[in-house]
Amino acid sequence: MITKFLASQLRQPSGWFGQQIVSRILNRDNASMNNLAFRMLNLESKGDRVLELGFGGGYLLNKILQSPGVEFVLGVDVSPEMVEFCKKRFSSQIKAGKLKLNYNNTVNLTNLDCNFTKICTVNTIYFWSDVKQTLTQLHQILEERGSLVICFNSKEFLKKTTLPKHGFRVYDTEEVKKMMKGVGFKNINWIVNSEPKQQFVCIVGEK
Ligand SMILES: C[S@@+](CC[C@H](N)C(=O)[O-])C[C@H]1O[C@@H](n2cnc3c(N)ncnc32)[C@H](O)[C@@H]1O
Repeated sequence: MITKFLASQLRQPSGWFGQQIVSRILNRDNASMNNLAFRMLNLESKGDRVLELGFGGGYLLNKILQSPGVEFVLGVDVSPEMVEFCKKRFSSQIKAGKLKLNYNNTVNLTNLDCNFTKICTVNTIYFWSDVKQTLTQLHQILEERGSLVICFNSKEFLKKTTLPKHGFRVYDTEEVKKMMKGVGFKNINWIVNSEPKQQFVCIVGEK
């Protein structure tokens, strides 16, 4: 059973526990979701500018930064502790000007002073106060033919846990695909992982 405390830490890691423990739990337990999101980002072109929304302990940021064609990465997270944790973890890439980490949330995305060729977000959609509005903003800050990758635990899987009782909003694949289409995403593809221990979906759409 996931307690209210742990659920709130997953939503927004805070304090010493969030910075030192939850960051590492996220990196370990969400590795396969983030590996799939990374594959679906398809970072093969030169000069990619990537935004990750809700980077947590930085597992996916690390993979993105190691991709040879990537020019610039912006990470945005609502937790100051995660921003601090990853600022230390990636200090050399920050110094080199390849990575910027910002404290921000999904409500204020259009004030980001950049356009991106790729955007990704893993395990954050449950916390968005307005999914359509956030998808609209993500669409706006993507370049033409850029793509958005969204990865999240399936509705069926989350309903077997106590997380929905603690404020995690659950979505099914069709619902998210429909909202993405509604705000203008095209060529929508998705992969479902249905192992008993981890059931999640990764959806990619193009501008
Ligand atoms: C469950 S963790 C997932 C972290 C990482 N993406 C992963 O899969 O391991 C959610 C992360 O998103 C951040 N977050 C939650 N709501 C957010 C929002 N509205 N805007 C930006 N970041 C948010 C949290 O602070 C946390 O770092």
